[in-house]
Amino acid sequence: MPEARRVRAIFDSIAPRYDRFNRIATLNRDQAWRARTARAAAPSHVGHALDVATGTGLVARELLDRADRVTGVDLSLEMLRSGEETNAGRVSMLAGDALSLPFKDASFDCATIGYDVRNTADPQRSLDELFRVLRPGGRVAVLDICRPTSATQELLCRTVFRVIVPMVGRLLAGKTGPYCYLLQSVDDFDTPDELAASMRATGFDDVTFEVLYLGLVTLHVGVKPS
Ligand SMILES: C[S@@+](CC[C@H](N)C(=O)[O-])C[C@H]1O[C@@H](n2cnc3c(N)ncnc32)[C@H](O)[C@@H]1O
Repeated sequence: MPEARRVRAIFDSIAPRYDRFNRIATLNRDQAWRARTARAAAPSHVGHALDVATGTGLVARELLDRADRVTGVDLSLEMLRSGEETNAGRVSMLAGDALSLPFKDASFDCATIGYDVRNTADPQRSLDELFRVLRPGGRVAVLDICRPTSATQELLCRTVFRVIVPMVGRLLAGKTGPYCYLLQSVDDFDTPDELAASMRATGFDDVTFEVLYLGLVTLHVGVKPS
């Protein structure tokens, strides 16, 4: 797994182009997946929602209509800075580590994490931290790119991360370097079933997942027992 300093440097370097990169690389589908993640975490209105590894706040923004308050936390100050311009103070954006969240136990009514359990040095610890800061009965939604389980998904994943992602990176930033670690991070990560098993082992109940976009993206949901 990539170490925190390296991951932070990567995201600091791509922060100003991150949102546009997402739109282009996913053919404009990315925000619909984030909206689905927010709905899964907060099917009805909640008090305080947390978005871990919020980056520029793209998932956090989708929680705004579903919660009284939304807090986002991320390692990369540049990602947070870019997001603050767009979020105009509606999301409380804080610097912090998913592996050691700067919050008391049971502080949040729901939590989301988009594309980052895979990026952390210790995915199990990030699930443990999400579990810790959720109140009993709170829901977590984990959006990520899991390791492919079929030949078709494998082909799609390799095409996207070896061809499309570097191409869009070159187009927007004139460089491909920061985007090259993605395929390795997916290869090192769980399959959807494995991630569901890790969530159950963490203590979450009612763990389910759906596979989006031909298996490229998965959305896992779980509930902290009351
Ligand atoms: C692919 S971006 C996803 C951002 C956002 N969730 C989204 O959906 O666009 C991954 C984010 O995770 C952050 N990150 C990586 N490791 C982290 C950690 N240990 N703690 C907090 N944030 C982390 C990075 O800085 C980056 O902003």
